[in-house]
Amino acid sequence: MEIKSYLNSKRQKVEKALQKYMLQSSDPFKEHIEAMRYSLFAGGKRIRPILCLAAAAAIDDSPKVEACLLPTACALECIHTYSLIHDDLPAMDDDNLRRGKPTNHTLFGEAGAILAGDSLLTWAFDLLSQSEITSLSPEKQIAITNIIARAAGPLGMVGGQALDIANENREFPFDTLRTIHRNKTGALITSSIQAGAVGAGAAADKVDKLTVYGNKIGLSFQIVDDLLNATATTEQLGKAAGSDLDRGKATYPAFFGIEETRRQARQAVEAAKDSLQDFDHKAEPLRALAEYIYIRSN
Ligand code: IPE
Ligand code: IPE
Ligand code: MG
Ligand code: MG
Repeated sequence: MEIKSYLNSKRQKVEKALQKYMLQSSDPFKEHIEAMRYSLFAGGKRIRPILCLAAAAAIDDSPKVEACLLPTACALECIHTYSLIHDDLPAMDDDNLRRGKPTNHTLFGEAGAILAGDSLLTWAFDLLSQSEITSLSPEKQIAITNIIARAAGPLGMVGGQALDIANENREFPFDTLRTIHRNKTGALITSSIQAGAVGAGAAADKVDKLTVYGNKIGLSFQIVDDLLNATATTEQLGKAAGSDLDRGKATYPAFFGIEETRRQARQAVEAAKDSLQDFDHKAEPLRALAEYIYIRSN
């Protein structure tokens, strides 16, 4: 399948839905909402929302199911964008460039950026819990909300970020490195897949297999992020290249070197595709997305 045109068409749907569901900037919170919108519409790849839609389609590829899951997909992107705003803060990774543009805090100040992140996170759960904009059953809505809350919080993404920061400029055992990557990046990616699957009505065994898929591509996503940080240019990435080494981050290349890191990313992608063996042609986008995550250039 042609991954480029698939990504473009899904991205357009996600952009349209984000425009529909994100707040318009108006008084009295004009500048605050502008700060939220600035990062949300700065041009991300929208991989998490697309994974959510692709996982749903692997179970049921009807347009109705996709439409039901668009608010969930938008909520995932809001959470991801908040995590990037906070990740770039001076107290965290201290980065000035994101998505090819100045980072949120360089334009809106540190307090403005912290608050924009807070509101993107909170708005995500507002979206997830509005029964009038999704025709998901209450049971599915609660299940999806819990999956995403668990993945985004202390036992997932935020926990992973805390470990990432705590292990800067330290000797780190492999277990710590894997735990960091699985949590800071893998958890939200896995939850995107699980939310899509649950929303589409997947049976428990299918959710389990898709969870394995999510864990594998989530890990390979961060391994490739590490590789790109070490090998690509700032221009290509739209964010600072070489920063992991400068900040003494716990990364796969720091632990294994470039070649072995590439091999491990490849291995995780193969394992992800293997986990889809019982799925039919409807899982083709998920197979192609696993490859895309490996070959992406930003
Ligand atoms: C970057 O995520 C941060 C990580 C969790 C590795 P993406 O590579 O998905 O960033 P955008 O959304 O496309 O900017
Ligand atoms: C980002 O990890 C993880 C989250 C934002 C949750 P990194 O700090 O490695 O990602 P980049 O390279 O800044 O995008
Ligand atoms: Mg970071
Ligand atoms: Mg960072």
